[in-house]
Amino acid sequence: MTRNAKKLFIKTYGCQMNVYDSDRMSDALAPHGFETVGEIDNADLVLLNTCHIREKAAEKVYSELGRLNILRQQRRDAGDDLMIGVAGCVAQAEGEEIMARAPAVDLVFGPQSYHRLPELLARAKTERVVDTDFPEEDKFAHLPAPRKETTIARGLTAFLTVQEGCDKFCSFCVVPYTRGTETSRPVDQIVSEARQLVDAGVREITLLGQNVNAYHGQDQTGGSATLASLLFTLAEIKGLERLRYTTSHPKDMTGQLIAAHRDLPQLMPYLHLPVQSGSDTILKAMNRSHTRDEYLAIIARIRAARPDMALSGDFIVGFPGETEADFNDTLDIVRETGYASAYSFKYSTRPGTPGAQMEDQVPEDIKLERLHRLQELINQQQSDFNASCIGKTMPVLLDKPGRVAGQLGGRSPYLQAVHLDAPAALLGTIQQVEIIETRKFSLHGKIVTVPTTKSAKYARSEGEQLLSGA
Ligand code: 5AD
Ligand code: SF4
Repeated sequence: MTRNAKKLFIKTYGCQMNVYDSDRMSDALAPHGFETVGEIDNADLVLLNTCHIREKAAEKVYSELGRLNILRQQRRDAGDDLMIGVAGCVAQAEGEEIMARAPAVDLVFGPQSYHRLPELLARAKTERVVDTDFPEEDKFAHLPAPRKETTIARGLTAFLTVQEGCDKFCSFCVVPYTRGTETSRPVDQIVSEARQLVDAGVREITLLGQNVNAYHGQDQTGGSATLASLLFTLAEIKGLERLRYTTSHPKDMTGQLIAAHRDLPQLMPYLHLPVQSGSDTILKAMNRSHTRDEYLAIIARIRAARPDMALSGDFIVGFPGETEADFNDTLDIVRETGYASAYSFKYSTRPGTPGAQMEDQVPEDIKLERLHRLQELINQQQSDFNASCIGKTMPVLLDKPGRVAGQLGGRSPYLQAVHLDAPAALLGTIQQVEIIETRKFSLHGKIVTVPTTKSAKYARSEGEQLLSGA
């Protein structure tokens, strides 16, 4: 630990993009003497990286700020100080309200201002600062890369944001307002970040975007790339064993992208493709721009291209106007599709979205009852999917030390956690693993290939392995 380093604690709420952003904020502040720590105790600066997607997520921020207010007072009583900043989508949507409701907050800044963080912090020493503009300059071009040791400490799998924002304007969703219009990073920038990750030992990269399959960044010849062409370009990086992307809209599931699932061995056979509802009436009211049958036809094409594709989805129950028959259509599309896992939510009214103005809001008790029924079905499908893996042999990326000595943890192609007995030297390698049993949140398996020096070619040195579990 650097002497005299100021300590930064970041609390992250919400989606993977916030996880990625928190790391980038930490990278932006590292050259300015901030050391990111895992505990709030003794932090000099606390940043809350917030989520606005549902009301509950936004409320959590205000209760955390209440606790931080007390902590700051205790610090001050002890002759010390604590700076508090709020980042992310609540900051973007409710900047002034945060300042009014939470007097302890020094700084509020939206997702497009992260590259300005050092400068904003300097200003926040003398005045309370709100920065929720959408600046002209490219944030990513100005954010510093992490040190190699930092990337190593973050582990063998990584997120990489390639696209941000959304132009779809689903009538329930705040994303187009909090993250702005769709923007894509240029291919060169992404390739260079991916190379740095792989140089530091990363074996699996998940490309992130709120609408990742609408990616249209500038390619290396000045033209426009697609997500499919980007995936092919990234697959050429030696040592990058696995690629994933999330989250996608059915409308942007192009033939080229579906073909990539057939032709690109690095692209994992697991796809998160939210449909939100199985009822055409509700899909229309949600402004989803596709029907139930169009979604099912896309799923059929994906499965034809890649028969072992496992699917995941998002569902909202109790959208305004949803009847019991509409909800049954949702249960039905879940049965017809068959998900390996899925996320489901009660509709939450978000200020400023068209859904908030709609009549026929569904009562909370009905939403809750529908949510329970849907989750029962989803849970059943998830355990059926896990059970169907027993006896199968699949490549598992061994990416972390196990909880028990002599064990390692890994990920299946279908994003399941797998535990198995294996020597630490195999960390960072992909092994053929036979799945023996399912446990509540994971699978248990055994290596069926004899480990050779060749298969361990990407293993890290002993010293590096210690960091990845820290
Ligand atoms: N209420 C409930 N769930 C929502 N989501 C987005 N907006 C809302 C809302 N207002 C869900 C959608 C989306 C996921 C990230 O969050 O299912 O796919
Ligand atoms: Fe929100 Fe996704 Fe719809 Fe965009 S496509 S508005 S991010 S739900």
